[in-house]
Amino acid sequence: MGQSVLTTGFARVDGVMHCEGVSLERIAHDVGTPVYVYSAATIRDRYERLEKMLVSIPHRIHYTLKANSSRALLELLRSLGAGADVVSGGELHRALNAGFAPADVIFGGVGKTEREIAEALDAGILFLNAESEAEVRMIDRLAAARGIVANVSLRVNPEITLDAPHDYIKTGGRGHKFGIPYDEVVHVAELSAKLANVKLVGLDMHLGSQLSRIDPYREGTERLASIVAELARRGIRTLEYLDIGGGLGVRYDTEEPPDLRRFASIVLPTVAETGLMLIMEPGRFVVGNAGALVSQVLYRKRSGGKEYVVADAGMTELLRPSHYGAFHNIVAMRQRGDVRTVDVVGPVCESGDFLALNRDLDDVQPGDYIVIGDVGAYGYAMASNYNSRLRPAEVLVDGERYAIIAAREEYADLTRLEVARPDWIDAGEL
Ligand code: LLP
Repeated sequence: MGQSVLTTGFARVDGVMHCEGVSLERIAHDVGTPVYVYSAATIRDRYERLEKMLVSIPHRIHYTLKANSSRALLELLRSLGAGADVVSGGELHRALNAGFAPADVIFGGVGKTEREIAEALDAGILFLNAESEAEVRMIDRLAAARGIVANVSLRVNPEITLDAPHDYIKTGGRGHKFGIPYDEVVHVAELSAKLANVKLVGLDMHLGSQLSRIDPYREGTERLASIVAELARRGIRTLEYLDIGGGLGVRYDTEEPPDLRRFASIVLPTVAETGLMLIMEPGRFVVGNAGALVSQVLYRKRSGGKEYVVADAGMTELLRPSHYGAFHNIVAMRQRGDVRTVDVVGPVCESGDFLALNRDLDDVQPGDYIVIGDVGAYGYAMASNYNSRLRPAEVLVDGERYAIIAAREEYADLTRLEVARPDWIDAGEL
């Protein structure tokens, strides 16, 4: 392959950006733009790296659907041996649809509804990660109504300050809405142990996302391990799983991705001492570098001394730059020689609709394609229909082959749920 411009799986061949053995220009011509393109090889590579990191201890990898829940990717990950981590009834539905065995699914989230808990219990998933005493009681009640005992793990807020690049993706700090406050966990565990229809099978944490340092994992794991020990002292010995969440970062720009060997050497011994099965819930690490968004340049313009590239993708296709100030590499499909400093913006009627600001980019012209890198995680999954824009197509590449794995939306999809002639109900009975 030629010089690697983006990441594993994406490189220039004869001057044109490719994903593995397929030209992105070919995909843009055949499928249209904007289009998300994923590299199966990259996903396999990342998954295998995690497997290798964890090989020394009993473990389960539950891929986090929220990062990217496209069915073909889920089936690929399932075929590699992954389980699923879901946070809504919708994600549970997707996981089961993609063929995950219920016993390979775990369910987290701070606001599960009664219906969602019931669906998880009826499906027979591995366990629910409960985030409050009230939720544990609700699970107990719903399990009792079904005459079953529900497996529950408690999500602990480890109360650790983090290096995540944006406040919105920090989750495990004191006072965050997630998890059970650290000093209340033993109390909730004792209560859970007394409930007849709940079995306490694990402890869980999630520190935050896009983490590059290993130390928070060490600290958090030690905190979980100390709770395991305290519970054993109090006679609670039903625990089977220690779930340390997701959060491993990837390279978008110049970040140092986490050192997996160091992770293995400083985090795993603490888990091994507990004797519990380790669970991880990675999302971004597995798919983040595996996706690119191909977009076409619609216009070039100048305003107030700035140069703009107006693309056919924007915040509706990729929200991360506008919502988190996130950096995504952007290159021209074919290099043009000259480089300009531009803002790359989308067609949406919002000033915050941009993909990059003050970015050095090849002097692309209307009709040219640009390739936005490392969008496999939280890209398509966060796409919206704002401005009644159609969500883009998704394509999976595997070696020399590609397949459309999600069709581009059509106008009819936008209005599918709308009622043309509302059926008025008279509520003025008083
Ligand atoms: N487990 C739990 C409980 C989580 O809340 C998350 C992500 C994960 C696992 C997976 O984390 P990962 O391995 O992907 O870092 N939309 C944001 C990221 C939000 C992450 C939410 N929780 C972004 O685009 O950066």
